[in-house]
Amino acid sequence: MNAGVIAVLLAAGRGTRMGALTDTMPKPLLPLQGRPILEHILLGLRTAGIHKAVIVVGYRGDQIERYFGDGAALGMRLTYRRQSIADGTARAVQLARAAADDQPFLVSWGDVVIEPSQYARLVDTYRRHNADALLSLNRVEDPWRGAAVYIDPDDRVTQLIEKPPRGTSSTPWNNAGIFICAPIVWRYIDALGPSERGEYELPQAITNMIEDKRDVRAMALDGFWSDIGTPEDLAVAQTAYTLVERFGSGVGRGRSSGADASVTNHEASRIEELVARFTQQHGQRPEFVARAPGRVNLLGEHTDYNGLPVLPMAIDRSVLMAASRRRDRLVTASNVDPRFADCCFEISDQITADVAGSWTNYVKAAAQGLVGNGTALKSGATLLIDGNIPAGAGLSSSSALVVASALTLLRANDATIDKMALAEMLPRAERYVGTLSGGMDQAISLLGQADHALRIDFFPLNVRPVPLPAGYGFIVADSLVQAEKAGIAKDAYNLRVIECQLACRVLEQALADERPKIHLSTLGDLVRLFPDRPLPSFFAPVLARLPDEPLPLARVAAVLAVDTEELRRILAIPTSLPDSFAIVRRLRHVLSEAQRVNQAETALRENDIATLGTLMNASHFSCRDDYEISCPELEELVELTRGAGAVGARLTGAGFGGCTVSLVADDRVSDVLAALDHGFYTRRSADPQACRFLFKARAGAGIVELTEDAATTPAD
Ligand code: GLA
Repeated sequence: MNAGVIAVLLAAGRGTRMGALTDTMPKPLLPLQGRPILEHILLGLRTAGIHKAVIVVGYRGDQIERYFGDGAALGMRLTYRRQSIADGTARAVQLARAAADDQPFLVSWGDVVIEPSQYARLVDTYRRHNADALLSLNRVEDPWRGAAVYIDPDDRVTQLIEKPPRGTSSTPWNNAGIFICAPIVWRYIDALGPSERGEYELPQAITNMIEDKRDVRAMALDGFWSDIGTPEDLAVAQTAYTLVERFGSGVGRGRSSGADASVTNHEASRIEELVARFTQQHGQRPEFVARAPGRVNLLGEHTDYNGLPVLPMAIDRSVLMAASRRRDRLVTASNVDPRFADCCFEISDQITADVAGSWTNYVKAAAQGLVGNGTALKSGATLLIDGNIPAGAGLSSSSALVVASALTLLRANDATIDKMALAEMLPRAERYVGTLSGGMDQAISLLGQADHALRIDFFPLNVRPVPLPAGYGFIVADSLVQAEKAGIAKDAYNLRVIECQLACRVLEQALADERPKIHLSTLGDLVRLFPDRPLPSFFAPVLARLPDEPLPLARVAAVLAVDTEELRRILAIPTSLPDSFAIVRRLRHVLSEAQRVNQAETALRENDIATLGTLMNASHFSCRDDYEISCPELEELVELTRGAGAVGARLTGAGFGGCTVSLVADDRVSDVLAALDHGFYTRRSADPQACRFLFKARAGAGIVELTEDAATTPAD
């Protein structure tokens, strides 16, 4: 989805303070954790939905153009402009003007790296204020190096002082070098006069706007910030990225703040323990650890395989996979939890599955998916796995295992696949286990963002971060009813996928008068084919053809005027499934649920918590009554949490057991937890600590490099 903002990246300077490093290579191409500095910036922009960027190049610009090309490999559209004389940032921005059109534009210094999730925050903040310009801020003790920024309590910028003499500033904020500008800023850029150095500078244009009482706002960055001016800065940024990769967002701070990473995360000690255990078992340290989080879906249940949106969050429970590559193609995997037996298999073109329901099939699914996708996997790996996502609880422990396995095998073979491409590929790969699942779980595990839910659209895959409300938390509660989607819930899940496919066939017939020969590969095609029509309007034509009750296949075939066995064959309906297809109510759920996702996204962006709660409750009722995926224990949980003050509560994930998610104001959290403990868990002699938890939305999966000096030495 396009954020409606284009980026202008200023990458013309040589970066002379980098010394010999930039003798033959322009600074934006210097490697930071194995990727050019500029690539980190582009990837961060992409996760914020910014797909179009103009790169202003200068020193050795041809190398930059050759490296990134038109940007297609990164899922971006890139164009270039050349700035041959160093006449200032405003002049550089002017070069990009034609491409920026009349849109808002994000300007970033090409050597300022920030935590990737911050680009989305900037875009969100800009939209919320609808400001004339938004500046990013960095907290410093003394902003003598950059521009000191003074702000009022509403985050309005009241003053910007370029390079104040050291020790004279009385604000803790300096300009972090990333701006979002409304088109009005062009007027100020065009009117600029030269500075004392004869240059034309963007901050001066902003200063003039402030003097003109324009609405200039500021947003403080969270997490790390680094402007890479010297080799030491590069090392600092390297550490920051390693920490984010290792522990998720918000743990590292840039050089200017002076603070070091204050890691409190439980995952850090899990990683250390896992590494120690691997070392003990295999006589050598693992080369790296892959981390893939589980997820909680906020809204949009059973919409993903229908090509309709979902709104999940990655959580702070994860699969950790310590690994070393092997010289042969064997994969040997063991789990620190002795309930999961060791496994060993060889990577080949056709990997034989283990008995249905076996955890090892998820590792095999990843290997088979990569091989089938044409990835050369010459090396196997030795794996030791530690997971703390409860299995069969609807929190996607299985997809996290697939994601961790795929990242591990890629890394062990020095292969890379862009995360978006991987998120598109892995759902197909996971079908190896026999469930016809959609693509939500893999996408959120890979692409999740700290403090955000992710709106995910499918076919093609598109993600858009949605900020979570301050002052509220999400509580997950386990119903203690296991619903392993490759196990007992498999048939019930697959049946619903088929019922939705049958709904497509009936709709094709019902819409034939308006659109002859229409083909719906999923219900989501309705959005593309009829963009102006609300989804729930497609319900009536189906209800006019079928009664709202479970029907035998022969009855559906008669309505469609096709042979029953032919219909079974076309839709690959296994004879093992019950001959009972509840098409009308399934359709009612899916159409209304997709609409609720749209409404929930708006509610979140507008901080309308009451509406969000109502939508969560409505989703639950629809899951219970129309999709028939609830159970008495889930009902008990949602009623308990609502009764104790939750704003909204619903089952999450595939259903048939698993967990609920409740939206709770911070000051009601303890009431809700107490209600769960006394009303549900103690009565079942279950340990509440193990069954319910408050979580923070976390960043998606990644590789944690373990080389001793990896965190401090720039990669090359
Ligand atoms: C499971 C599947 C997902 C999705 C959910 C229900 O988690 O793996 O693809 O269909 O159920 O929303």
